[in-house]
Amino acid sequence: MSIPVLLDCDPGHDDVFAIWLAAGNDAIDLRGVTTVGGNGYLEHTTRNARIALTVAGVTDVPVAAGADKPLKRELTPGAWIHGDNALGGPVLPEPTVPLDQRHAVQFLADTLAASTEPLTVIPTGPLTNIALLLQQHPEVAPKIQEIIWMGGSTGRGNVGAYPEFNAWADPEAAAVVFASGLPLTMVGLNISHQALITEDVIQRIGAVGNATSAFGVELMRFFCSTYEKAEGMPEGPLHDPITVAIAIDRAVASVQRCHVDIETTGEFTAGATCVDLHDMLGKEPNADVAITLDVPKFWDLVTDAVAALA
Ligand code: RIB
Ligand code: CA
Repeated sequence: MSIPVLLDCDPGHDDVFAIWLAAGNDAIDLRGVTTVGGNGYLEHTTRNARIALTVAGVTDVPVAAGADKPLKRELTPGAWIHGDNALGGPVLPEPTVPLDQRHAVQFLADTLAASTEPLTVIPTGPLTNIALLLQQHPEVAPKIQEIIWMGGSTGRGNVGAYPEFNAWADPEAAAVVFASGLPLTMVGLNISHQALITEDVIQRIGAVGNATSAFGVELMRFFCSTYEKAEGMPEGPLHDPITVAIAIDRAVASVQRCHVDIETTGEFTAGATCVDLHDMLGKEPNADVAITLDVPKFWDLVTDAVAALA
């Protein structure tokens, strides 16, 4: 039985690989891709999601655009990593995948309401669309099997000292989702920095030899170049597809059940995910926090998915 998934993303180089893993692995029934402002402005993240599907030859997955800015803050795109168009590196083809005219939140609500089974929601960007969905359509929350989110960190962040980008972009949205009571897995930088794009990984993806792999190599090389400049990390971490990998095979990552608070008022720490790893506060756990990645299994899943696409 395949797992029905809704992927909410802000492509973004690593988001593209999350789309490809969801589309290329038979264990996932990708019911839709929704976009949010994050790595880039909404027009770019939406176009890039359509391009990711176009390159991969995926024509039967609807795409809907969502929030163009956070709930309460202004959007600051992650151009220092992803470039001004949020998908720097390759020459971008014209997308042929159509855009659903509904707002992403309406699309998500309609899809969840119409489904005969609960769906797994996988956000890999700021949680703005998901927070709006829970606020505006609470009746569909029971149709969400679980949320597997790339964001946060049990340790240091990547925007300033402690906030991770997706949580930093919209801390208020993250607070809504972490207070929802829904089953939630947090895939933070602490685990995503185990998914490093080594030269061997790039060679392995390139050796697949299809159009998706060639495009993916260009994405990886750009992403690694900006990570080296921005964070001194020449092997960039491929954050987002870890969420989909967990949906496919829970054994790909260990998790620890914890209480997580989202800092929303700190002058220097807004967006920090305060993960109570040692249950110091005695609060009810609200998330499974991913800790250790089975790195070989992860790259096998990514490579096999790319090979299954155009
Ligand atoms: O901090 C990493 C996260 O921010 C990833 O989802 C990346 O795509 C960016 O959105
Ligand atoms: Ca992302």
